[in-house]
Amino acid sequence: MCGIVGYVGEKDCADILISALSKLEYRGYDSAGIAVFENGKIQVEKTKGRLKDLEEKLKAGHKPVGHCGIGHTRWATHGEPSDINSHPHGNKRVSVVHNGIIENYIKLKAFLIKKGYEFISETDTEIVAKLLDYYYKGNPVETIAHVISEVEGSYGLGIVFADFPDKVFAVRKDSPLIIGAGENENFIASDVPAILKYTRDYYLLEQNEIAVITKDNIEIFDIHGSTIEKELQHANWDEEAAEKGGYEHFMLKEIHEQPTALKTTITPRVMENMPFLEECGITSDMLNRFQKIYIVACGTAMHAGVVGKYVIEKLARIEVTVDIASEFRYREPVLTENDLVILISQSGETADTKAVLRLAKESHVTTLSIVNVKGSSIARESDFVIYTHAGPEISVASTKAYSVQLSIMYLFAFQLAYAKGEISKERCSELTKMLTNIPTLIEKTLEVEAQCQYVASKLVNADSLLYIGRGLDYALSMEGSLKLKEISYIHSEAYAAGELKHGTISLVTKTMNIIAVATQDKLFDKTISNVKEVKARGARVILVCKEGVEMTEDVADYMVHVPKVEDDILMPLITAVPLQLIAYYTSVLRGCDVDKPRNLAKSVTVE
Ligand code: AGP
Ligand code: GLU
Repeated sequence: MCGIVGYVGEKDCADILISALSKLEYRGYDSAGIAVFENGKIQVEKTKGRLKDLEEKLKAGHKPVGHCGIGHTRWATHGEPSDINSHPHGNKRVSVVHNGIIENYIKLKAFLIKKGYEFISETDTEIVAKLLDYYYKGNPVETIAHVISEVEGSYGLGIVFADFPDKVFAVRKDSPLIIGAGENENFIASDVPAILKYTRDYYLLEQNEIAVITKDNIEIFDIHGSTIEKELQHANWDEEAAEKGGYEHFMLKEIHEQPTALKTTITPRVMENMPFLEECGITSDMLNRFQKIYIVACGTAMHAGVVGKYVIEKLARIEVTVDIASEFRYREPVLTENDLVILISQSGETADTKAVLRLAKESHVTTLSIVNVKGSSIARESDFVIYTHAGPEISVASTKAYSVQLSIMYLFAFQLAYAKGEISKERCSELTKMLTNIPTLIEKTLEVEAQCQYVASKLVNADSLLYIGRGLDYALSMEGSLKLKEISYIHSEAYAAGELKHGTISLVTKTMNIIAVATQDKLFDKTISNVKEVKARGARVILVCKEGVEMTEDVADYMVHVPKVEDDILMPLITAVPLQLIAYYTSVLRGCDVDKPRNLAKSVTVE
C-alpha cells in the first residue's frame, strides 16, 4: 500500500528513488512520482501507472538531475489513479509524498480555500502540502510539528522544502517509515527492502517523530523540537532473499520456501519435543488465566485463525472466536480481563488489525500478536509477540506466511492444552514431534506440482468454483478459495460441505467446478456423500485427499494425493500446498499478473 522513499547523497537521485521504489512494488500501487532538486529547484515528475511508465516519461521528457529528493508509489484512496492525483503534491516551496489517509481533510481544505489556496487534485494529501506552505516561516521542523498537530488520521510523509535543497524531512503516524543510514548517503523508506541495496542500517521512526536527513547526518526530533537518540537497527535479510532466486514468480518461490520457513519458525519454539513459547513471555501460569480467546485478523491471516480455532478448541477445550478485524473493531465486542486477543498479521501494519489491537489495549485485555515483519507496529504495540520467521514475503498472495502462522497456532494450542491439563505430556510431545516433521513432509508434498499444473489446465476457462470440505478441511478451503480468486480472477467461494444443500447447491450444474478437500478420516465418508451429490448434478470434481485413497470417476474427475500425517489435525499444513499450487498455475495459464494482482496491495495500511 503505497511506497515512500527519499534520498540525499552523491549519486543520481532519480535513479536511486526509482530503484528503491521498485523494491516496494509488492505493496501494491497505481501511480508513481518523484521530486528531485535540480539546480536548487524542486522538479516534480509523476504519472498514473507503473514505475516503468514513469521511467518512460522521464526518458521521453525531462529527467531531473540532482542528489536529493523524494519518491512515491501511490495506492489511491482519495481520488482516482491519475497523473494529477499522483504524488508528490505541492508547489515551488514544498513538495510532499504521503502514505495514509487524512481524515479531517475536508475541514482543512475549507480553511485553506478561505486563505486563498486553490486545489488541483482530489487527494487528501494535497491539503498537507498546502498546510505546510501556509505555516512555513523558515523552520521546517517547527512547520511539520504544527501541521501534524492539526491533521487527523494516518500518515507517513516524505517532505522537501525549496529553501533546503540538501535535506529530506520525514514524519509518520500509523503508517510505516524507516530512516536508512548509509555512507555519504541517507534514506527514508516505507520498508527495509527499499534500502537493502545501499545499506543494512536503519532507524525505526516512532509515532510523530520528525526526521531530518542530509548526506552525512540524521537527526530525529519529537513534536516539541527536542532531539531524540535512537538505536540503530541492522537488517539481516540479504538482498538476494528479496529477489526471485530463479523462480518465475515470487509466489512460486515462496511456496517452495515453506519447508525452510516452517523449520526456522518451529525449531526455536521446541525444546525436548515440547512446545517452548516461554522466550516470548508465554508461560503456563499466564495461559491458565484465559477463559476466552478472540483471534482477529484479515484475509489469509484470518484464515490461519480459523484453523487455530478448530485446533485450540479441540485440544485445549477453551472457547475461541475468530473475527474479521474490520468487523470486530466496530461491533462493540464484549471483552473482559480474562480474555486473550490474538492478532495475526504478516505485515504487522494492517490498519484494521492494528485498530483492534488498540481497542483491546484500551479494554485492558491481554494481547498477543503473531507477526512476520520485525519491529512492525502490531509487533511493537502488543503485550506479547511471537514472530513467524518466513523472511520477506513479496508476492501479494500470501503462502509461506500462512503456513508459518498455522505452525504457531499449533504450537500455541499444544502448549495451552498441556498447561490446562487437557492433554498429557506424552500426547503434547507426540504432537510436537509430528509438527517438527512437517517441513520434511512438505518437501514431499511439493512433488504434486505437476498434478496441480494439470488440474489448473482444466480450470483455466472456469467461470466459477466452489471449494468444499468439513471441519479443518473447510477451514483450509477458505484459504484455497481466496488464493484462487485473488490471483486468477475466477469467482470462487468456500462452503462447508454439509451446508451446500441449504441453498448453494442450486448453483451446481455441469458448468460448475468443485474442489473437494477430504483429509479428515472422521469426516471423510460424509464429505464424499456431499461430493456425490454435486457430481450427480453434473459438476466437475477435483478431490484433494490423502495418499492411498482411490475413487472411481463417478465421484471425482481428478484427484490430487498428499502425504499423510499421523494425526489428521496437522493435515491443513500439508494440504495448503496443492491448493496454493492450483491457484498459482491457474493464474499463470490465464496470463494474470501473479505477484501483483489487480486492485490488491501487499500491505493494507488504510481501512
Ligand atoms: C492474502 O493472500 C492477501 N494478500 C490478504 O488477504 C492478506 O492476508 C491480508 O491483507 C492481511 O495482511 P496481513 O497478514 O499483513 O495483516
Ligand atoms: N490518501 C492518499 C491518496 O489517495 C495516499 C494514499 C496512499 O497511501 O498511497 O493519494
